[in-house]
Amino acid sequence: MKIVIARSEEEFGKLAFAEIKEIVYRDPACTLGLATGSTPIPLYKEMVKDHQENGTSYAKVKTFNLDEYVGLPKEHPESYISFMTRNLFSHVDIDMKNVNIPNGLASDIPAECARYSALLEKASVDVQVLGIGGNGHIAFNEPNTPFDSKTHQVFLTQKTITDNARFFDSVDQVPKSALTMGIGEIMKAKKLLMLATGKNKADAVYNMIKGPVTTACPASALQNHPDVVVILDQAAAAKL
Ligand code: F6R
Repeated sequence: MKIVIARSEEEFGKLAFAEIKEIVYRDPACTLGLATGSTPIPLYKEMVKDHQENGTSYAKVKTFNLDEYVGLPKEHPESYISFMTRNLFSHVDIDMKNVNIPNGLASDIPAECARYSALLEKASVDVQVLGIGGNGHIAFNEPNTPFDSKTHQVFLTQKTITDNARFFDSVDQVPKSALTMGIGEIMKAKKLLMLATGKNKADAVYNMIKGPVTTACPASALQNHPDVVVILDQAAAAKL
């Protein structure tokens, strides 16, 4: 596991982008695993800036997002497809046919999970971007999710609902359920790029890197992956 500590938000974005750039330059038809939330925004800003300044093309890139809320209309500003469109997809030349996000509006949720798992089974994700929850979750795999899990529906913990309330007008508006890629599928990516910022992540980051490998901290599964890069700011790294 390679651990890098950034000294500013700008440096954090640049360090994260350097990992993605290497892969996109090597294979313009690569497959990127993407995450939402506050943490990867500096990375997406760097991807957009580089696309505008250097013309790096995403026309052949395929993407798989980690998760999506259940029941939130696609056009809702906090749906993960809206988030991705606003922060990345609408600013680069990606072909939306190559974009994959679980459909949280599917009428048959188990069938939708099976569809997404089947796509992931065939895919070969070159790098999966990850954030970490304050409780150590990765994607929406909350504590005690089996490490071999596949795409499934989750009911969010009260901690995750409270953490995500900042994006909504009130805590009552946070969806209670989501579809998430499973830990087993995340671990199949060739490389994992874990990003974490802020002091509210310091305990989870410590448990991910220095704690025992246990489903009590889903991110501790990363200790079992052969190619992990962790990029932190100083606050998130404070307890290491
Ligand atoms: C988002 C996701 C979540 C977030 C995590 C951290 O697609 O899968 O696991 O990465 O909740 O969220 P932020 O970055 O908002 O602190």
